[in-house]
Amino acid sequence: MTGDKLRSLFLKYFQGLSHQVVASSSLIPHGDPTLLLNTAGMVQFKPYFLGEAVPPSPRLTSCQKCFRTTDIESVGDSSHCNFFEMLGNFSIGDYFKQEAIAWAWEFVTGHLKLPPYRLWVTIFKDDDDAFNLWRKIQIPENRLVRLGEKDNFWGPPGEAGPCGPCSELHYDFGAGTGCGSPDCNPGCSCGRFIEIWNLVFIQFNQARDGKRTPLSRPSIDTGMGLERISAVMQGKTTIFETDLFKPLVNCAAQLAGVSYGSSSEADTAIRVIAEHGRGTCFLIADGVMPGSDGRGYILRRLIRRAALYGRKLGLKNPFLTQIARATITRMSPVYPELAQKQKLILDVIAAEETRFNETLTTGLDLLDGFIARAKSTNRVLEGSDVFKLYDTFGFPVELTREIARSEAIETDTAGFEKEMAAQKERAKAAAHRFKSGRLVNESAAALNTTCFTGYSGLVEDTSVEAVLVDGQLVTEIAEGQQASLVLASTPFYTEKGGQVGDTGFIRCGNSVFEVAATMPGPSESILHEGCVIEGGFKAGDRVQAEVARDRRLDIARNHTATHLLHISLRTILGSHCEQRGSHVGPERLRFDFSHLKSVSHQELEAIEDKVNEMIRSNLTVKAETLPFRQAVEAGAIAIFDEKYGDDVRVLTVGSPPVSSELCGGTHVSATGEIGLFHIVAESSIGAGLRRIEAITGRGTARLLRQQAETLTRATGQLESAPDELVSKIKALKENLAEAGRKMQALQRQNMLAQADEFLAGIAAVSGVKLLRAEMPGLTLDLLREAADHLRSKLGSGIIALASVQDGKPVFVVSVSDDLVKQGYRAGDVMRQIAAIAGGGGGGRPGLATGGGKDASRAGEALQAVEKCIRPV
Ligand code: SER
Repeated sequence: MTGDKLRSLFLKYFQGLSHQVVASSSLIPHGDPTLLLNTAGMVQFKPYFLGEAVPPSPRLTSCQKCFRTTDIESVGDSSHCNFFEMLGNFSIGDYFKQEAIAWAWEFVTGHLKLPPYRLWVTIFKDDDDAFNLWRKIQIPENRLVRLGEKDNFWGPPGEAGPCGPCSELHYDFGAGTGCGSPDCNPGCSCGRFIEIWNLVFIQFNQARDGKRTPLSRPSIDTGMGLERISAVMQGKTTIFETDLFKPLVNCAAQLAGVSYGSSSEADTAIRVIAEHGRGTCFLIADGVMPGSDGRGYILRRLIRRAALYGRKLGLKNPFLTQIARATITRMSPVYPELAQKQKLILDVIAAEETRFNETLTTGLDLLDGFIARAKSTNRVLEGSDVFKLYDTFGFPVELTREIARSEAIETDTAGFEKEMAAQKERAKAAAHRFKSGRLVNESAAALNTTCFTGYSGLVEDTSVEAVLVDGQLVTEIAEGQQASLVLASTPFYTEKGGQVGDTGFIRCGNSVFEVAATMPGPSESILHEGCVIEGGFKAGDRVQAEVARDRRLDIARNHTATHLLHISLRTILGSHCEQRGSHVGPERLRFDFSHLKSVSHQELEAIEDKVNEMIRSNLTVKAETLPFRQAVEAGAIAIFDEKYGDDVRVLTVGSPPVSSELCGGTHVSATGEIGLFHIVAESSIGAGLRRIEAITGRGTARLLRQQAETLTRATGQLESAPDELVSKIKALKENLAEAGRKMQALQRQNMLAQADEFLAGIAAVSGVKLLRAEMPGLTLDLLREAADHLRSKLGSGIIALASVQDGKPVFVVSVSDDLVKQGYRAGDVMRQIAAIAGGGGGGRPGLATGGGKDASRAGEALQAVEKCIRPV
């Protein structure tokens, strides 16, 4: 029975039992910050189990794409995989244990026809209900095993969520397989048993702190690994021999020119390549791009690990796209996204693998050296070495550890972490230098949280809570002093989420403090950094804080435009464009995002047009605070690596929204305020990462005016209309080139005439004819031509010519063939003379060129040729 047949049989069976078939959700658990990737069929249904949303039906069934990352280094053995498909049936407060158990049994024995004596069942140690239900369907007591929390309590996936005791069905390969112990049971890891189906009786919601509260309506979540049940049904002992994996295994074996099953080392490598190649395709299809943390890092690790194992099979050139093609062929009938995203998948893999491949050889050589050294010393790979491999050669630390371990060498991970931390510190320190921030001393760390009031107003009457000078608490400050003020409440936005902090003034009577920057301080306080420009301030003063209005509005325009840009990029280039960073200031905005290629001129225009259309539509911009889940369910974009609280601020543009993002920044109230959006630059900032810089509002107006002025000046100079400018410049350039050519011809003519005059004044030293001449104004090319011309006239002899170019002397020396035969070298002569003018040069034996620094010594330099002549 093929995997495809099994999949549809399962879904049909539960459909027949009134379950609604639900499509697999993305591997990226959108809206679930507790999970990096989707790890189980129930993940997309979590809100249903928790009563936060209403399911389309109380009975659901699915085949879910899953990705588990705990065991990346175990992939390659006969059973582990990262990516797999999970079949499941779900009851949302509908049926419970009795039906779940009865139906599971009916499916495996009645439909899959597995012999009942091959099936064992495990239950949670205290679950007598489950025990009795299984006994009712004739499972003998000796095949019904009670296990503890580790084996038979499932969930929650991630840090919090639904969970409960579970019951597992195991297939028994028979006493001939595994440890042979008469007591062997499914709790044993010898390989005799394989778990095929997990029935979870969801009874609790577990909070982040581990506390479990009973759910009002118990539910069912079951999961059956498609690869495993396929192996059982196809009489195979490993998933890699099933029809789901066979084409990929064959492809890898063929590429390497080995056959699967011929050696255990090669088999491991083939399994790694097949598994990671397959997982890679699914990750990319769902929008993951290689990166240095989070999901991106997982993808990168898979690709690099597969590449490394390819090396072990002797594959020196990138090969993973072949595995990807085989995966797409095998899986796209069921997962059409693979075919739709084929180009992206192949491009991403090719780029990432090629880049890694370039450093792989050098990195492996280096690692061999480190390992050899470790073998002769303490058998530990130094943290700094591991870091070097990571930083310079892109070796994921896990990969280095894995290779070292295969040579029985341990890795100093703590040392590596230290190096990483130090690097981060360096980066932070470098970034900090750009901020005005003086670090807050620990003694001043006990500050109160500042209340931010600046979403609605730019002026606030408040009081000074604390005054800091060089990070130390002080009681007062006087005119001219640099300090940080902490206020009870403030309209000043502090630098965060990519948006720069506000500037402005804090006043108290006649005293004025100019705020140059607003930075986050300890305990969520806000530091107003700047200088007293009049009077003085002390803690407790009643003050008025006022944000610089125009600058704040410039920032707001750029910030809202950033959201419009984000949505336009996703529309024009594709939904793989994920935000990777941004900087919003008053002058311009910068947006970093994942995308493999440079963005073409046409694409940039389309993106710019789209943003400007949304600006002209004058869409309403609205911010509201919502529970996190509700926000993401409504489609708000959250950035995975950001930490969000339970309640989040959602910024929506338009109604119905064209853009909806979690964002704490300050924005315009309608898009029309942005004015005109203009992209000024697009560039690469790393592999698969692009940056767009753009301006809005007053910035665009300024640029337009500057450019118009430049244009006016240019048209004035050229006495032409603007639309004739280009053709006029082209004509001018042609004229200029023509004039240049004429000029050169003239110079050449002059040069030749002048050269002939020099022939008259030749000296002979020790029988060698010497021609020395200064020909100011000639280019080096013409000077060389002059030397050639003179040489043809002179016959035997040495010619040394000098000219001055851009204030510097240049020289040409030519030596006739007969003198070269006698041992004279143009290069030797050149070095002799150029040295006098403070320079050097060289060339062929017959011709050398050179230059110097001091033009006034050119004549003297030429005289020095004589020194090179040997007396006969
Ligand atoms: N959630 C359970 C598991 O992943 C059953 O689906 O095993």
